[in-house]
Amino acid sequence: MSFRFPDSFLWGGAIAANQVEGSHIADGKGLSTSDVCPFGVFGQIVKRTNGDFNIKDIAIDFYHRYPEDIALMNEMGFSCFRLSIAWTRIFPNGDDEQPNEAGLAYYDKLFDELAQYDITPLVTLSHYEMPFNLADKYQGWASREVIGFFEKYARVAFARFGDRVKHWLTFNEINVTLHEPFTGAGLPRDCTEQMRYQAIHHQLVASAKAVKACHELIPDGKIGNMMLGALIYPLTSNPGDVLKAQVQNHDWLFFGDVQARGYYPSYMHRKFAQLGVSLDITDDDRQALKETVDFISFSYYMSGCASADPKEQEKAKGNMLEMIANPYLEESEWGWQIDPQGLRILLNMLWDRYQKPLFVVENGLGAKDQLNEQGVVEDDYRINYLNAHLYQVGEAIQDGVAVMGYTSWGPIDLVSASTAQMSKRYGFIYVDRDDEGNGSLARTPKKSFYWYKKIIASNGEQL
Ligand code: BG6
Repeated sequence: MSFRFPDSFLWGGAIAANQVEGSHIADGKGLSTSDVCPFGVFGQIVKRTNGDFNIKDIAIDFYHRYPEDIALMNEMGFSCFRLSIAWTRIFPNGDDEQPNEAGLAYYDKLFDELAQYDITPLVTLSHYEMPFNLADKYQGWASREVIGFFEKYARVAFARFGDRVKHWLTFNEINVTLHEPFTGAGLPRDCTEQMRYQAIHHQLVASAKAVKACHELIPDGKIGNMMLGALIYPLTSNPGDVLKAQVQNHDWLFFGDVQARGYYPSYMHRKFAQLGVSLDITDDDRQALKETVDFISFSYYMSGCASADPKEQEKAKGNMLEMIANPYLEESEWGWQIDPQGLRILLNMLWDRYQKPLFVVENGLGAKDQLNEQGVVEDDYRINYLNAHLYQVGEAIQDGVAVMGYTSWGPIDLVSASTAQMSKRYGFIYVDRDDEGNGSLARTPKKSFYWYKKIIASNGEQL
């Protein structure tokens, strides 16, 4: 494209601790909610006994191999690397009096490594995991007490790492609790709507308290929210479908509305009345919520449609986000509909709505890769997907949208969140490990590695 992204644009990739680190009980780490979900976010919850296989116990062994991996990110030209801290390395049970020094020391080393290469870390405080003990003993975020535990953890992280980490996110895909209450909020899967929304309220308050703590402890820092960008179109121009799409978009925009504006949007009052939900909101909560995020971040993989027709709605049941398939779009091997223009639409929509800088912190294609005879993955399908999406980011910037950066999901192959598979790969770097845990864990750049390097070096001009 005959356009260069702004010089300040941050280019990179994103990972999450539980999908890469492994070493799930090393150096005093406690068990997290992810550690008891060996089959992925939607799979059965398994209380751990010795000898259970969970691919995430080793994952890609980023815990030990991060110097090699970060060197490869640097070779691609990354100016930013999004990663998460495992809360359980810092507070193994969540309600501990003192933080675990060995966990803090691990992230010290990691951030020092990034600093060596001048790569800006973007750090998520909670990415699809919380201490299992908090889920077990307190029913997770259903308990108001968890707000205090999270705030304490956030303050420890800001105080310790704030000299090197200036960019933070609170909860990954905070709206996921609507789809998976255990992963999102440590709730029982059969929780009532009352419990679900009360837990969400506690998370929103905790997020705002973390924002305040960040502003106090890291005056030159920036902290954002993170939403699963579940863009919904009306299936047809029937006003019933249009209305339905608006309502479904409100379901997830609600989170950003609270985090960016500092109060509950009016449409939620009707929703709560319809669901029979009555929230316990204290004056202190209302005050806390006023501390709003500095920027908005989101993941974007696919779009979907909504319809007022019950027959169409029935068809969507069973897929993760209950989205109706768009007849104009193709889908990935996992049935995720591919819609690059949707990213431009979404960026414009969020900019119009919030007028705060935006950060695309996840986007990518999960695919089954094959090594060719030379042992290299020729992943043109991934290059095409990413090129098309980044092109639309460039278009949105030209539309006038303030975009801080782009971190593709899983720059190095990692364990899938939804299915706990290694074979659903996103990376520019191939990792030799299969779904059963066989493999040397060796890292090999794919064709897309060199493509991304070229795109970054040209600041988007080569898209
Ligand atoms: C996002 C999550 O929902 O999607 C990541 O924040 C996840 O943790 C990514 O890995 C891709 O999903 P999956 O299921 O293909 O790993």
